[in-house]
Amino acid sequence: MDNRQSEAGVRFGALAELFDPVTFRHVDRLGIGAGMRCWEVGAGGPSVPLGLAERVGPTGSVVATDIDVSWTHGIEGGVIEVHTHDVAGDPPPAGSFDLVHARLVLVHVADRAEALRRMVRALRPGGWLLLEDADPALQPLLCPDESGPEQQLANRLRAGFRTLMAGRGADLSYGRTLPRVLRGAGLADVEADAYFPITSPACAVLEEATVRQIRHLLVEQGLATDEEIERHLASVTSGRLDLATAPMISTWGRKP
Ligand SMILES: C[S@@+](CC[C@H](N)C(=O)[O-])C[C@H]1O[C@@H](n2cnc3c(N)ncnc32)[C@H](O)[C@@H]1O
Repeated sequence: MDNRQSEAGVRFGALAELFDPVTFRHVDRLGIGAGMRCWEVGAGGPSVPLGLAERVGPTGSVVATDIDVSWTHGIEGGVIEVHTHDVAGDPPPAGSFDLVHARLVLVHVADRAEALRRMVRALRPGGWLLLEDADPALQPLLCPDESGPEQQLANRLRAGFRTLMAGRGADLSYGRTLPRVLRGAGLADVEADAYFPITSPACAVLEEATVRQIRHLLVEQGLATDEEIERHLASVTSGRLDLATAPMISTWGRKP
């Protein structure tokens, strides 16, 4: 999705509210602290680079990269650097990192294997790679409690969204492969867990912004009508639906 659309900022805010507590639980458990060097790949919004900067303090550094840095402008300075950068195509930032983190990024990158090689190469020996990616095929429903027509429509539109993502090369079962992928990349002490909300106001914010960003594609490809989209948006904003997300699978491993 295009980061320059205004909905992108809303989506990044909702992703932060839903997933930052999970991300920083892992970051803290890996011992990321004062003086360390972190690379935040596909940063999207400002919250993860800012949270990492808090942890590494004035003697550390945080490099935040994205192919589109529209929503991280303004946070650079102090220990934070921001660069426009394609994780699969550009050389990694200089230096070797204590932590390389990418959340909900690789599922969108066509050459995921090359992106992974570059991230592993950027780690210092003993440094941690923390990859967090969705697995929409593992839990495909927007409304796991499909109790009526509004929930059925919500799940049908979510299926349309998955069709669009798959058509653009997203691997909808990627999340579950991460532990194997990290071991295959030579990382040690690999562990993983998964999280998804079952209902939360942030899920409604995320859903509304996502549907507004992709509605023209859903209609163009015959996956939904304008009338269905309006009906769904009204249900979402009414607060009547319990909206979930795909599971986010967090996987971490250490470079020997
Ligand atoms: C779903 S957003 C996730 C943003 C953020 N990591 C988060 O969890 O809130 C995906 C992000 O990956 C970025 N991205 C997509 N392909 C990329 C690539 N090849 N290199 C770097 N960033 C990329 C997008 O621009 C977007 O900001």
